[in-house]
Amino acid sequence: MTSSSSTSPVHKLEDYRPSPWLTPSLELRFDLDLHLTVVRADYEVVLQAEKIEPLFLNGESLEFLSLRIDGAIVDPEDYQVSPTGILILYPPKESFRLTVENRICPAENTSLEGLYKSGSMLCTQNEPEGFRKIVYSIDRPDNMMRFRVTISGEESLFPVMLSNGNLLSEKQLEGGKREVVWEDPFPKPSYLFALVAGELLETKDSFQTGSGRQITLKIFVEKGNEEKVSFAFDSLKKAMKWDEDTFGLEYDLDLFMIVAVEDFNMGAMENKGLNLFNAKLVLADKKSATDESFESILAVIAHEYFHNWTGNRVTLRNWFNLTLKEGLTVFRDQWFTEDMTDPAVKRIKDVLFLKEFQFPEDQGPMSHPILPKSYREMNNFYTVTVYEKGAEVIRLVSELIGRETFKKGLKLYLSKYDGQGVTFEEFVSSMEEAAGHSIPNLRNWYHRGGTPLLSVQEKYSKDSNEWILDLLDTGASEYPLVYSNSIAVFDREGKLLTEEKRIMSGARDQIRIAALDSKGTKPIVSLFRSLSSPVRLDYNQSDEEIQVLAKVETDGVSRFFAFQNLIFDWFRKSIASGREENFSIILETIADSFGVGWEKTYYSFYLSFPGLTQISENIGCYEFTKIQKLRVWAIQNISTTFTKNFQILLEENRKTIPIQTKEEIGKRKLKNIALYYLLYDPSRKFERLAVMEQREAKHMSEEVSAMKFLLEVDSKEKENAVNLFFEKWKKDSLVLDVWFAAQVTAGEDRCKIAENLEKHPQFNIRNPNKVRSLYFSLARNPLSFHKEDGSGYTFLSERIKRLNEINPQMAAALTKLYSPVSKQKGNLPKIAKRELEGLAALPNLSKELGEVLGTILNSL
Ligand code: TRP
Ligand code: ZN
Repeated sequence: MTSSSSTSPVHKLEDYRPSPWLTPSLELRFDLDLHLTVVRADYEVVLQAEKIEPLFLNGESLEFLSLRIDGAIVDPEDYQVSPTGILILYPPKESFRLTVENRICPAENTSLEGLYKSGSMLCTQNEPEGFRKIVYSIDRPDNMMRFRVTISGEESLFPVMLSNGNLLSEKQLEGGKREVVWEDPFPKPSYLFALVAGELLETKDSFQTGSGRQITLKIFVEKGNEEKVSFAFDSLKKAMKWDEDTFGLEYDLDLFMIVAVEDFNMGAMENKGLNLFNAKLVLADKKSATDESFESILAVIAHEYFHNWTGNRVTLRNWFNLTLKEGLTVFRDQWFTEDMTDPAVKRIKDVLFLKEFQFPEDQGPMSHPILPKSYREMNNFYTVTVYEKGAEVIRLVSELIGRETFKKGLKLYLSKYDGQGVTFEEFVSSMEEAAGHSIPNLRNWYHRGGTPLLSVQEKYSKDSNEWILDLLDTGASEYPLVYSNSIAVFDREGKLLTEEKRIMSGARDQIRIAALDSKGTKPIVSLFRSLSSPVRLDYNQSDEEIQVLAKVETDGVSRFFAFQNLIFDWFRKSIASGREENFSIILETIADSFGVGWEKTYYSFYLSFPGLTQISENIGCYEFTKIQKLRVWAIQNISTTFTKNFQILLEENRKTIPIQTKEEIGKRKLKNIALYYLLYDPSRKFERLAVMEQREAKHMSEEVSAMKFLLEVDSKEKENAVNLFFEKWKKDSLVLDVWFAAQVTAGEDRCKIAENLEKHPQFNIRNPNKVRSLYFSLARNPLSFHKEDGSGYTFLSERIKRLNEINPQMAAALTKLYSPVSKQKGNLPKIAKRELEGLAALPNLSKELGEVLGTILNSL
């Protein structure tokens, strides 16, 4: 991302230098109060540079109180306090004690970064640079500190007071106050510090490690949620076991705590021994959580737990290397979920996500390499590129050297760099060391932005009776890459002939495949199976060939994507010709799939019709109304052609048990797919089935889907459905998030509905989950957001303006959804430009929002 209009300083990778001063240990003191918390930090300061130079402490939104060196007040002439920190001009010697004191107001901190109030608790969020909003500090990840933390506060308000590590002591003070001391034996950067205090309920479990140590597990929740933690505990224990079994990694403290927080900017945070979670990623029971949310909980609990090694024990030298911990940890959590559920289904979900969100980011104005070259506001770089593409690059490494060697490489990396802050280079060289050879061009994946586009040219060689496939990486000039290309060859009847794993290093590869017979009949080739490298292909395979793959590819992931490609091809042709092209190949493929007996969840994905955004991204067309018309036509066609089959499918899977097993999840998914198609029957005679499904649901997945489907097809039952749902769930804020979202996710003119919903007493713009449910869902609904008259853009920019004052991170994240506007037709780019320029002129423009606006405006 580059930006010209913003004025905040740019941080450049090439400018990185180690911190001249370090603070290897500190004592932190908190006198908690909702409005006036006093914080004191007592640092051991040591010089790391060659000779003494001024010492800068970061600090933002702090009220400075005092500064001492070795106990003596520092002469005000010798330091400068500014809105970004304190510059100590003349540090006296190479090592000394530095004591700094300040005040903060957690109750007024709506940014949800630093120390803030959520519900009845105070909690912290410090990654990446929130610590400087709590206390003056050398707030960078290469400054590792041993923490000892004393917290005192009124017992009635803060009966529970937590921080990282082990509880050393607790005592009653005068005047109803209590004091606790926590100590973390592991040095860590400021971003992994956490504090939580409030009226919380403690739930408890335990885990025995492979070496026989007993770990206490605790989950803290607000009152009323204590019955919703058992799935989270099970997930945590599975993750702990898996990391031992797969990588030999044991947990290193005696206590592991999780706190569920209502107001949280992202998913969760891996603070050492004290993970903080968005409540929606902890709390679940069969009545209130969908199958998707159960799976997210499993994955995110594992993800944060896995950070204990990849992120915490071995941490980052600087924020440019964020993907070192995030890409790696996402890959680890994907692998975990593959092992816990179904590998093909999990891979399909991950690739769908990558294609729907990361590919567009990489093709739009926000495109950046997984190792960004520069940033203004680090918060803006917690992107799908750093996370998901980063994970694809790690997966690629595992493809290139094999998973067993990868495990060795990871162990080597962790033992070599334990307790240090490192870069992707240390990771890559550990992998090379484990493999016993170097991997040319691998490092370029960290520097090259954009999704590689590989063109595939086929030609027949009469001399050798071979088909020759020429692969060309069209963007390889500056940064040639290395690819793992899993290929398979089939004959026309669909028989698997050969499989091969090829490594392509550099811009070209040539694949030679024997013709099927002496007449030179062409075999059918499947490339980059299961997306063995994160690429886009420009490969003109005929629909007939793709259809064979959609039926018989032995790799379930590529079989699924072959069918999707058939559908995209139909849209491409129909958009080009302006009418519904021949649909029979799609109908045939579906007809052939009934009764094959694929695993249920897998089959439900296979039958799912791609959404509007997916279609639009895949065919590169942004005329949403046209696509939508075709989409409805296609679904109705499938619906009426296969009415009987869907009725049978529905009947066969109707009786479900509300438990989280593969079989029951599969049944719920399949019957929902059947119901979905039936609802598109123009006669509308099946709507009563959805109404019944919602009323009789035993599991939230059934209840939500029925309501969503009725909304999507604009049923006359939709209002009843929405009201019924609300009456049942009005006391459960997390379920209401789903209710808000469902009403704006699909269809035109949802801005008007959103305008009513934001006046709803349970809507709250300060709560990120509500913002995501309403505003993000709306902005991801192209029919409403990219409506020709620009009303979607005006609606959203008005809300971004408010969020700029309340929560800059959310404001910036929402603004990123304007990225595809330059591709829109008619007046839309102009209207977007006007709206975004309006935002850029705001008097209190935040760093976060300023950077994103600058980047998108540059593209308009
Ligand atoms: N490190 C967190 C993760 O596991 C993500 C994170 C970064 C985060 N910044 C945050 C979470 C702010 C909550 C709030 O991916
Ligand atoms: Zn993470």
